[in-house]
Parts: sequence; structure tokens; C-alpha cells
Amino acid sequence: MDSGKAGLTVAVRDIIGLIDEELSRVEREISLEWMASVDAITMIGNYLRSSGGKRLRPALVILTSKLVGDGGESAIRLGAVVEMIHSATLVHDDVIDGARTRRGRASTNIMWGNHTAVLAGDWLYMQAFQIALRERDFRVLDLLINVTQSMVEGELLQLKYLGSMTVTEAEYMDLVDRKTAGLFSVAARLGAVVAGADPATEEKLGEYAWNVGMAFQLIDDVLDFTAHESVLGKPVGNDLWEGKVTLPLIYALESSDEADRNMVATVLADRSYERVPFERILDLIIRRGGVERVRQRARAFTEKARSIIGEFPESPYQRALYAVTELVTERDY
Ligand code: IPE
Ligand code: IPE
Ligand code: MG
Ligand code: MG
Repeated sequence: MDSGKAGLTVAVRDIIGLIDEELSRVEREISLEWMASVDAITMIGNYLRSSGGKRLRPALVILTSKLVGDGGESAIRLGAVVEMIHSATLVHDDVIDGARTRRGRASTNIMWGNHTAVLAGDWLYMQAFQIALRERDFRVLDLLINVTQSMVEGELLQLKYLGSMTVTEAEYMDLVDRKTAGLFSVAARLGAVVAGADPATEEKLGEYAWNVGMAFQLIDDVLDFTAHESVLGKPVGNDLWEGKVTLPLIYALESSDEADRNMVATVLADRSYERVPFERILDLIIRRGGVERVRQRARAFTEKARSIIGEFPESPYQRALYAVTELVTERDY
């Protein structure tokens, strides 16, 4: 496994080539299911699927299912389900955030307008649940319904915190749990469930992926400050501009003086970098150690994930799940 930097910047499917075939089948399943008699839905589906995306969540379903057995067609279907739920969330999220870009292209709300985007997202959630229903397995539905509700609650909580400089680390972590780690965890649990794993194994794999998801979002929030837009596929400095105070800034603010705090307050009040340029905010969070501390925190999550996966017998799938933890902290998009 190439653990060099260059090897880590490619899509996850290239790194874990051993599930390439399954991921192609997931892709086929998604394209077959993301079709409706109403053009807008099919068009949005084609548009979003061809824009890229890392397919991390289906990869987790497949890998965990292969780790403990073989989920067969169920793992493929549920891989499609988690990716469709993820996509629906992104479509709604971009409406809520008034985002202009997603995966390097104009976001759905910009292309088709808010109304169409909301309805297409609704349709997609229901299509995902319809596929999941074919499993005739209440455990599967239970996991999916809970996580989807938790994600919606996360978006609502985030709205409440919008523009606030007093968001605490604990509040932030709760948001990350809901927004991101929950679905990672469910993806891994579903892989385990369809492969017939016992509850303790399911629980362990869920915890592994939860830690991966936490690290993933923490790094996402670092990249929002440090990445380049052309690589990230969405604008840099966007979170603060949207009114979101994320962990790099929460940490930086802990040791900030009045002048620093005023700079942040100005951007939050203006929702623009006109009076305080982005570079000054970036300088602040680096100077106050925000970036470094968040990277450390993210590494603590991936170390936990590694220690869990390390308890499983060695196999190509075990190594791939291990590699996922590296990908998450080393990625630059
Ligand atoms: C984006 O998720 C939303 C977050 C949880 C940060 P991804 O970064 O997995 O999005 P795609 O699917 O690869 O575009
Ligand atoms: C991502 O939330 C959507 C969810 C995972 C619910 P954000 O608004 O923080 O992420 P980006 O920056 O749009 O991808
Ligand atoms: Mg959002
Ligand atoms: Mg957003």
C-alpha cells in the first residue's frame, strides 16, 4: 500500500483497488435507481454523479462487509443507499448554506434553483429508503432512519449556532457527530449487518467508522481554511463567511486578544471578507495554533480507529480499512 503523500491524494477507490468492482456495481445501482419520470430528478442525478465525489461511505459498507464475511448484493444496495442519503443531504445543505459550488461545479441550487433542489433532495431520500426497504430488515431501517433524523437535527442545530462566536468545543463535536460521523458509523454497521456479523462486531466497526468520520470532518474544517479552491472543489474560507465558527477558530479564539476577536466578529457581522481579508483570519488561526491543535485532535480520532481495526485479524480488507484512516488525515480535498 502506497502511503506516500502522492498516493494519498487520489480518490479512495484508487487506493483500495480491491473493491473497485463492488464500487462500480454501487455506481450502477445508483444510476439505475436515480431515475424518475420527472426530468429534473434524472438530470440532477446525472449531474451530481458525474461531478465526482469520493464515495467514502459506500466504500465503508463494502469493506466492512468483506472484512467479516460477504454481504453480496445487499452490501452493494446499501452502499448505494448511503451514498444517496449523503447526496440528498448535500443537495439540501447547499440550499441551506446558499452554496455556489459543490465538487468543483455549480451546486444544484445554483443550476436548478432552491425549489427544485429541495424537492429533488426529498425524492432522493425516499428513493434511498425504498431501496433499503427491499432488505426486509428492521435493523437496517432503524439505523438509516435514526442517522438521517440526526443529520437533519444537526443542520437545525447548526442554524441555531450560525453567527455565534461562543460555540463551545462540545457543541461543535456534537454537530460533527450528527453531520458526518453518524453516517460513517452507520455505513460500517450496515456492512457488518448484511454480512451476518454479531452485535459486538457491528458495534466495533461502527465505532471505528465513527472515529474516522469525526477525523474526516475536523480535517474538512481545517481544509476550509488551508486548502486551495481548485483542489477542494468549493471556496476556501467559506465556513466563516457562512457564519460557521468551526474548531480551528474555536481553539484559536481561546487564546485570542481583543483585536483578534474583533476581526472574527467583523467577518461574522459582514458575512464577507471585505473589511477583514481572509488572509488575516488564516494568519490568526495559524498563529494561535488552531490548525495544529485540530490536526492533533483529528489524529487522536484516527488513532482510536486504528486501534479498533487492529484488533481484527490481518487481511487485505483489514489493511484497506487501516489505509482509510490515513487517507482521512492526509487528504487535501
Ligand atoms: C462532504 O462530504 C460533506 C462533509 C461531511 C464534509 P464528502 O467530502 O465525503 O463529499 P464527496 O461525496 O466526496 O463530495
Ligand atoms: C455538510 O455540511 C453536509 C453534511 C454532512 C450534513 P457542511 O455545510 O459543513 O459541509 P460543506 O462544506 O457544505 O461540504
Ligand atoms: Mg451546512
Ligand atoms: Mg455546506
